[in-house]
Amino acid sequence: MTAVVIDGKAFAANVRARVAAHVAKLKEERNLVPGLAVVLVGEDPASQVYVRNKGEQTHAAGMGSFEHRLSSDTAEANLLALIARLNADPSVHGILVQLPLPPHLNAELVINAIDPAKDVDGFHISNVGLLGTGQKSMVPCTPLGCLMLLRDRHGSLAGKEAVVVGRSNIVGKPMAQLLLGDSCTVTIAHSRTKDLAEVCRRADILVAAVGRPEMIPGDWVKPGATVIDVGINRIERDGKGKLVGDVHYTSAAAVAGAITPVPGGVGPMTIACLLANTLTACYRANG
Ligand code: GUN
Repeated sequence: MTAVVIDGKAFAANVRARVAAHVAKLKEERNLVPGLAVVLVGEDPASQVYVRNKGEQTHAAGMGSFEHRLSSDTAEANLLALIARLNADPSVHGILVQLPLPPHLNAELVINAIDPAKDVDGFHISNVGLLGTGQKSMVPCTPLGCLMLLRDRHGSLAGKEAVVVGRSNIVGKPMAQLLLGDSCTVTIAHSRTKDLAEVCRRADILVAAVGRPEMIPGDWVKPGATVIDVGINRIERDGKGKLVGDVHYTSAAAVAGAITPVPGGVGPMTIACLLANTLTACYRANG
């Protein structure tokens, strides 16, 4: 079998276009402009690229984009004071603090200082609890993007065996909650899981979010399964830099029913969902 390639880039462009249409309508009918504030502390090169992309795509959707770049030695009190100002600013509907933060800052404290209604990352403890209990919440962008791709491919996910490899708060755990919410039978696997290959082979839906280049080979994939590869790993191959996922693409694509490529799969969905969450936050804030 040769897998269908799930075109996350095209899907994300579609989501962004739908968001932009809503934004234009909000502006025209209610003179409202959804606004997203992104806070970057320090000079981490990968984070700088992400933040630049977020700013560009926020603008392109017609939203307000507010970037706050702080030096790597910023005091926690100053960062918390900025968040308090953004919480109180009615032109800001979404707040995102780019992670990772420098080690002297307490990321949990900082994230939990964000107004949960503006927490477009869905990382605030209130949103985590709401998601875990099946209540209306802000949903983390990367797992939300994965869920959209899966629903588009399968329609109903009810009864499917889903295996999520990786237990991070940003992807693995919320992904498992979302799949459970769609009535999958869910397993979260991780570095201490016994017989990981066997566990993966059970999956109708296999989500890889471990951050280890090409860790999952094709012979761990059930024939016909849908493989969602969240990994974005930069490696050197043949003297050149290359992006690869957590799944060994060519061997997995030979057995899977459908697979997301890297790049061009899950990656573009993350920012598209961030824009969608900012729009949702704006609607909720304005009734
Ligand atoms: N760093 C890597 N991914 C993310 C994300 O989804 N949100 C934030 N805030 N930081 C990140």
